[in-house]
Amino acid sequence: MDGNIGHRSYVKPSQVGAKPTGPMLGAEITGVDLREPLSEADVAAIRAALLKYKVLFFHDQDISHEDHVRFGRYFGDLEGHPVTAHVPGAPEVLFIEAADGMKITDKVLPIARPANKWHTDVTFREIPSLGGILRMRKRPPTGGDTIFADTAAIYADLPPDVQEKIETLDAEHDIIRSYGYRVTPEKAAQLRKDYPLVTHPVVRRHPETGERHLFVNHVFTSRILGLPEDEATALLAYLLDRVKAPEYQMRFRWNDHAIAFWDNRATQHYGVLDYWPHERVVERVTVMDTERPRR
Ligand code: OGA
Ligand code: MN
Repeated sequence: MDGNIGHRSYVKPSQVGAKPTGPMLGAEITGVDLREPLSEADVAAIRAALLKYKVLFFHDQDISHEDHVRFGRYFGDLEGHPVTAHVPGAPEVLFIEAADGMKITDKVLPIARPANKWHTDVTFREIPSLGGILRMRKRPPTGGDTIFADTAAIYADLPPDVQEKIETLDAEHDIIRSYGYRVTPEKAAQLRKDYPLVTHPVVRRHPETGERHLFVNHVFTSRILGLPEDEATALLAYLLDRVKAPEYQMRFRWNDHAIAFWDNRATQHYGVLDYWPHERVVERVTVMDTERPRR
């Protein structure tokens, strides 16, 4: 309170609106200009929409790197990345050519295109990120969509015996699994030292909504622990396969100056690599979470 007796203080109501982009997850946000600082009411409205819709889309936002960083900071501290490059002079803005930082060339295309790219960001960390805020920088003429999946819906539809089985299980997550082959052996050894194997629950409870989410992903999860190896391998393959079902997904077709903001605790995403030899560049700001995933 400002203690200013005799004056009423008016809080400008938020103009932020959210229009669902599909039945499962995703909403388009209107009534906000990310080139300007946001009011508390706007930030609260965006935060609420993120929890409800899990991924938000903003259009016609020709923002600077500073605007991008300022927007991210409303939701938490920001982090860099041990492998993916950043924009010169902006360590918090990752510069992503093709999916997850791998530069595509004719030589790596036959490896990169068939690789399954469904993932939650940075689950090799003890505390994986809260969210990612991605902006289109260089758009191919067609293609280069990003697909998002709702990991609460995936969990909710699992057969009850599978739900019961995985509720108490942990899985191992490994940075080398995805980044190992594209760095030198020396860098890989350093990454292993800096990022020892971590375990996370196979099912995590969202710290804000309380919803349960499937929390294994193709890119970083190396194995499920506590089961005979054959059973663990089959169970992980089964769970990862569920993420591929279109019923749980929405597919975002980018425009210039579009921005996507996903709740990294509630979703997986997949950058579709269908546009080569055209190029695609996106930039990501990564919002840190404050606690480890828990059941
Ligand atoms: C990311 C990512 C996919 C894409 O930035 O974390 O996975 O479509 N991007 O660019
Ligand atoms: Mn990603």
